[in-house]
Amino acid sequence: MWQILALLLIISQGALSQDKLNMCMDAKHHKTEPGPEGVLYSQCAPWKDNACCTANTSAEAHEDNSYLYNFNWNHCGVMSAQCKKHFIQDTCFYECSPHLGPWIQAVDQSWRKERILDVPLCKEDCESWWEDCKNDFTCKTDWHKGWDWSSGTNKCPAGSKCRKWTEVYPTPKSMCEQIWSNSYLYTTHTKNSGRCMQLWFTGANPNKAVAEYYINNAPQTKGPALTAMLLPALLSLFVMMY
Ligand SMILES: *[C@@H]1O[C@H](CO)[C@@H](O)[C@H](O)[C@H]1NC(C)=O
Repeated sequence: MWQILALLLIISQGALSQDKLNMCMDAKHHKTEPGPEGVLYSQCAPWKDNACCTANTSAEAHEDNSYLYNFNWNHCGVMSAQCKKHFIQDTCFYECSPHLGPWIQAVDQSWRKERILDVPLCKEDCESWWEDCKNDFTCKTDWHKGWDWSSGTNKCPAGSKCRKWTEVYPTPKSMCEQIWSNSYLYTTHTKNSGRCMQLWFTGANPNKAVAEYYINNAPQTKGPALTAMLLPALLSLFVMMY
């Protein structure tokens, strides 16, 4: 009898982990399930073997004021190309990644049902992003909210001023964490550590193993919490069966 209970537990946990390891969040443009895409455009190409974005989304990710979010990168003068390439990569990562499961949270927003929170970014990816943007300008710390959208695209809200990037974001950490309201967490883990998510990669997606690590090892993720919720349910099922 105990073997059956153990088996049930293993199966249920395995199923949960599998889901979290390969899934798409319920947001504005994501596919419902990850899968291969024949062609993904330019900087989104690394995800083509298994992606939550469509080819159309991957192409739009490279456009200014694209139909994805009508987002205006040039709200304090034209954003430099070296800075913008990081925002394009960030968009590809957000739209295409099938391995963000451990950091997906339900959210009460009109335009999406789920978001990512505290995704641990590799030090190099966060630091090169900040380095390449540090001569640009912006008027806001949190780019998720507080814009003037009255024209259909985001403009600096009344009372805000365009300031040097380094004044708004003194450090790479402040930028990576604050710009998308804590979607990302700055870490000191390096790209070869297996403990952080990579925005930039070539070849096989290295982030699957990272997600697996956090599902199995990180106490703050939902994996163990869900098991804790399932255990009493399975126990009562077991009692009913015998
Ligand atoms: C993507 O799809 C939208 C909506 O159907 C369309 O307006 C847009 O032109 C497409 N973009 C590309 C690059 O194909």
